[in-house]
Amino acid sequence: MSKETEWDKRFNIGVHSIDNAHRKLFSIVRKLIRLSRDENNGQWACAEGIKYLKNYTIEHFTDEEAYMQSIGYEGYEVHKRLHDDMRYKTLPALEKDLTESNYSQESIQHFLGICLGWLTAHILIEDRAITGKISNRWKTDNAGADMDILKSALTATLQVIFRLQPEIISEHYSGEDFGTSQIIRLIYSSSPQQKIQIFMILEESLVLTAVSSMLGMPLTKMDKLVMNAGKELSLRIVKQLGIYCCLPTQYQLESSHFMTPEQFRKILYLEIFDYSILLNTGHGYFAFCVKLE
Ligand code: FEO
Repeated sequence: MSKETEWDKRFNIGVHSIDNAHRKLFSIVRKLIRLSRDENNGQWACAEGIKYLKNYTIEHFTDEEAYMQSIGYEGYEVHKRLHDDMRYKTLPALEKDLTESNYSQESIQHFLGICLGWLTAHILIEDRAITGKISNRWKTDNAGADMDILKSALTATLQVIFRLQPEIISEHYSGEDFGTSQIIRLIYSSSPQQKIQIFMILEESLVLTAVSSMLGMPLTKMDKLVMNAGKELSLRIVKQLGIYCCLPTQYQLESSHFMTPEQFRKILYLEIFDYSILLNTGHGYFAFCVKLE
């Protein structure tokens, strides 16, 4: 993680005040990562630092939105919604995770991993798009009725399958690293040549909890058996989801396989997902991405 927190000039968007704010955000994250690794600093230092990062991020969003408006940026609405998702959903949900777990090491890693991943991807793509250095990723926003149906179907499905109460953290998951995870890609197809690709990223603690409760024995290691059971669970998730979302039954499973984080990241930068949701299940994070073809 340390190399990823270093400032790189490719992050510059060419607007002095915004570049300075981005540089400062990275330096706060870097400091927090150092604090979180030092056992002597304890929860208080982390808690204060996280509060500061949150406030500074929100302040930066306001400044950047004012800049976008001042130049009449045409991608303003979508960009603001990305900020709002972070401001009103992700940050409060991560903060809740921190306070409810009394700033556990795991919740601090979730917070830092997601903030760092979000900042990097957002600055590199969305912020640089403001000054035309790159094309923006979220050209259209997948908000609206379909997103609402998918969110409630996903929440209900996870309640049925994992018997957990998941909470939505983000509607614009962009591959942020929230911890060691199992990544599964499922491809469904129907004739004539319609495809749905589904990517599920299940934090290992979630897979272990689910498989342990399925088998009625405590498991602590991700071995082949647990991984395959995790894949089976992901197929059940899609089946259950299909019932809630009324997915046409003509879609057949074409392939299912595990992916490495590098393989997933490559796809993420090449493709645009139609839906990309991140949830906290209470026993680990879970991301669900869909690409319709
Ligand atoms: Fe620099 Fe859009 O945040």
